[in-house]
Amino acid sequence: MKYNFDEIISRANTGSLKYDFTSKFYGREDLIPMWVADMDFKTPDCIIHALQERLQHPILGYTYLSESFYDAIAGWMWRRHQWKIEKDWITFSPGIVPGLSFLVQTFTQTGDSIIVQPPVYHPFYFVVENQGRKIVRNPLVIKDGTYQMDYEDLENKLKAGAKMMIISNPHNPVGRCWTATELKQVAELCLKYHCMLISDEIHSDLIMRGFKHTPVASLSEEIAQNTITCMAPSKTFNIAGLATSEIIIPNPDWRKKFLYTMEEAVHIFGNIFGIKATEAAYNHGEDWLEQLLDYIDGNVHYCQDFIAQKLPMLQTFSHEATYLLWVDCRGLGMTHEELCALMIQRAKVAFNDGRIFGREGDHFMRINLACPRSVVEKAMHQLEAAIG
Ligand SMILES: Cc1ncc(COP(=O)(O)O)c(C=O)c1O
Repeated sequence: MKYNFDEIISRANTGSLKYDFTSKFYGREDLIPMWVADMDFKTPDCIIHALQERLQHPILGYTYLSESFYDAIAGWMWRRHQWKIEKDWITFSPGIVPGLSFLVQTFTQTGDSIIVQPPVYHPFYFVVENQGRKIVRNPLVIKDGTYQMDYEDLENKLKAGAKMMIISNPHNPVGRCWTATELKQVAELCLKYHCMLISDEIHSDLIMRGFKHTPVASLSEEIAQNTITCMAPSKTFNIAGLATSEIIIPNPDWRKKFLYTMEEAVHIFGNIFGIKATEAAYNHGEDWLEQLLDYIDGNVHYCQDFIAQKLPMLQTFSHEATYLLWVDCRGLGMTHEELCALMIQRAKVAFNDGRIFGREGDHFMRINLACPRSVVEKAMHQLEAAIG
């Protein structure tokens, strides 16, 4: 391997949410932090060098989104996802969660219903409920050991008049890489009932071997006009701290409306480092990403095999995307509170409590596997000892 993903890099005292704030969120210091979704790997050199080069100039004033920023994003979408986008579809947001929040604000009214598919990334609930909109739940169902969408339930919820649907594609936390057929069914139902579809595709580059990401908006021109796509290099290249993402809006009227909100609410010029990092990542990061994917695939398989052999009371699912492993702990026969206590007090691991993703996450845990293999091994052995 050209890149060393085994290297242990201390993140203590770097202002890292995952390391420096574990005790704030979990009540003790001595846990292996495998929760918030960033990676313990070095950001690739191509990005670090681009930022260092920019720092050779001592003035860091306002910037603006340049042609090279748009070119880098459009080039990536085409090369990695065979999605041909126009550069003027791209709008900037200082992160996907703020982007989702502004989308809800722009396109829905107080009291409107917005569909989500629990268990799902918890800020989807906040961006809806904190703005006085109503969450409508279209829970995923487990069939044949894998999570699937419930289209009949979805159609009923759409019939009742939902204005917007937010999906996680691929899905955090269950790790599904939705197929083109599955996405087409959702997108066509949204079209039929005039419901705007928001597709959060932040994990779209973190796809396991043998699976392929489909941008929903690439499925047809009609679907593109009814879909807004949220993408970013932040998860893929470990640059979430640079707060730079892209909201892709093919529908010109919707784009105009969204830009109006953004111009009123935030500087839409972008962040000088976020822009440089995005360009470097999308123009030069593919080689690093390919090796990262092999490494993560290895971590996932290590954990799945360990659980199957040594902890058969736990269950994992077909893991197709993201570095976040979703683990069903119902077989332990504990209450959810006992399960959380077991993880923190006895196993000394800080996983994400499945309940934050909705009540379907009761008795589940989400494990962040974007760390050196030796850390994953240590966590699995601590878990085995605690359960044993
Ligand atoms: C599905 C999903 N959307 C958005 C985010 C966060 O995006 P941002 O940091 O750009 O707000 C995450 C982070 O884990 C995520 O999993």
